[in-house]
Amino acid sequence: MSNLKNILLKKKICKSVWFMRQAGRYLPEFRELRLKNPNFIELCLNSDLASEITLQPIKRFNLDSAIIFSDILMVPYALGQEVTFIKDEGPKLSEFRMDNFSRNNKLEFSKKLAPIYKAIEITRSKLDKEKSLVCFIGAPWTLLVYMLNLKKNKNEINLEKLENKDLKFNLIINKLIEYLCIHIQGQINAGADVVQIFDSWAGLIPDKSIQDFCYKPNAKIVEFCKKKQIANICFPKGINKKFENFHQMVKPDGLNLDPEIDPLWARDKLINVVLQGGLNPKVLLKSEESLFNEATKYLNAFKEIPYVFNLGHGLLPETDPDKVNNLVKFYRNFK
Ligand code: CP3
Repeated sequence: MSNLKNILLKKKICKSVWFMRQAGRYLPEFRELRLKNPNFIELCLNSDLASEITLQPIKRFNLDSAIIFSDILMVPYALGQEVTFIKDEGPKLSEFRMDNFSRNNKLEFSKKLAPIYKAIEITRSKLDKEKSLVCFIGAPWTLLVYMLNLKKNKNEINLEKLENKDLKFNLIINKLIEYLCIHIQGQINAGADVVQIFDSWAGLIPDKSIQDFCYKPNAKIVEFCKKKQIANICFPKGINKKFENFHQMVKPDGLNLDPEIDPLWARDKLINVVLQGGLNPKVLLKSEESLFNEATKYLNAFKEIPYVFNLGHGLLPETDPDKVNNLVKFYRNFK
């Protein structure tokens, strides 16, 4: 069994390291390919290139897991919304239309995502057996933030839209869950070992809606994974002390921490789950001394329990790849 899957399902203490956004713009070899492929969605659908990009950080740093090069917005794309990436602004989706959304069918959906499954097959065949291949989805709330254009600005939700009775949130969320489970199964069937569920905007949900928009949808997806024995990691970013409620309600195999969570608090409150990540990617922009000090905090806190070394969100584009290499070395030599 691959390393990460083993830790998640057997909760063994064994060493494992990978980083979110480990394949990305901080790598010159990625930037070179990206320049020749200006359409991001098309790049994600190019199975050979997606696989090549997935393996770039493994070749450089010999990490224990690869994460398939794709995007959480491939699901809204496959459900019929146009997805474009505007430089310095982020993703933009064409207007959501309930009639179009309801008209989707599962066969068509899987067909559109087939190149991702092919990329996973190619990658699995090239990756060492002990290394894990991580696949992922966006959680329903985080996808809705983009699909319904729910943000007012970088850190705020347009609450009026949440109160809009014409938008049938529960119906949309439940339909999305069905499609997301199909996408998880497709990726696992193609050879992925573990699924990570990104709820990157969970921290923006008003308290009174956190059950309906975060805990319940994540719980349904984790329940599906458990039924199918699919190792899973949840990442409800930004919900702070509510990580404890999340853990009790959702019961995933693994939980990724964000930089706001105190590792000692996590160790004491989040028990019977494999913890992953937490380190602020910004420390990779500081001196090596502060980087190693921060890393030590996490490695010491989780010395006695299964812990997957990773970050509290993705590697930043301005990160120096040599620093990443030194961090991996530091981790491997940590006693
Ligand atoms: O982690 C990995 O290396 C795997 C690949 C991966 C990407 N996106 C590639 C990508 C993963 C796991 C994601 C997840 C994702 N995508 C999330 C959840 C995690 C998070 O970061 O919060 C979200 C919210 C998205 C949506 C998305 N995709 C945004 C907001 C952006 C633009 C912001 C940015 O960083 O440019 C993207 C584009 C994107 N996805 C890039 C990459 C490497 C950059 C594309 C480029 O080269 O311009």
